[in-house]
Amino acid sequence: MNLMASAGPDPSQRSTNNSTAAVRASAVDGGIKRKPFLLRPAAKVLLFALCLLPFWWLFYGAWANTLGPNPAEAIIRASGDWTLRFLCITLAVSPLRQWTGMPALARFRRMLGLFAFFYVVMHFLSYSWLDQSFDIGAIVRDIIKRPFILVGTAGLLLMALLAATSFNRAIKAMGAARWQMLHRAIYAIALLGLLHFFWMRAAKNDFAEVTVYAAVIAALLGWRMKRALAKLGAGTTI
Ligand code: HEM
Repeated sequence: MNLMASAGPDPSQRSTNNSTAAVRASAVDGGIKRKPFLLRPAAKVLLFALCLLPFWWLFYGAWANTLGPNPAEAIIRASGDWTLRFLCITLAVSPLRQWTGMPALARFRRMLGLFAFFYVVMHFLSYSWLDQSFDIGAIVRDIIKRPFILVGTAGLLLMALLAATSFNRAIKAMGAARWQMLHRAIYAIALLGLLHFFWMRAAKNDFAEVTVYAAVIAALLGWRMKRALAKLGAGTTI
């Protein structure tokens, strides 16, 4: 997915292609063409393996019984944490591209967004299995009864929509502008995830971690807002 608003089909892809050509031209050294690591297929393979580490860590912990006294709670919570972390990492790609001057980073945004979806599916399935024994009636009642679960479910449904339209064929079918508009829903998803987390921790009066995520998400969305306002300003002065 470009679960990834500012992604687009995508300006970054164009700049990546341009930079690829430039790099190819400049990286001929002694007759050997060298591609920078970020542009090599191996970079995607490495990132894929890294993104799976939390999954394997939880899988191993469940198998080896090292997840503490309540393994079900540990799995549900850790998969929720990783969903929020991957949403933040996906949103961080655009600012990082700009600050580092490395347009090639855009190549990884779709994979990162899809990993956010992977972890929210794991979060939902582990809740449905370990908390609710796959009792559909109980799950629906819980979603209606507990507002923090309702908010999380809204986030999950939006993420499913973005994941389903994250492929090149969907971009073609929808048209770049409509696709980009839809994928801006990642901002709402990040806020829903944060609200879900806040609501859950409010019951325990424990806001330390929530505050950290809130600051990160505020910075990432603030950066986009500033950029959008600057573009708007530039447009009106012309
Ligand atoms: C955008 C979607 C979602 C995000 C970002 C998210 C994130 C989180 C986070 C960060 C936590 C707290 C983990 C901790 O305490 O360290 C959490 C807990 C939890 N979430 Fe989600 N979640 C999402 C969707 C859902 C959905 C769809 C459900 C179920 C229908 C769900 C059910 C739960 C439950 C049951 C807990 C644990 C509550 C507890 O242990 O008391 N979440 N989630």
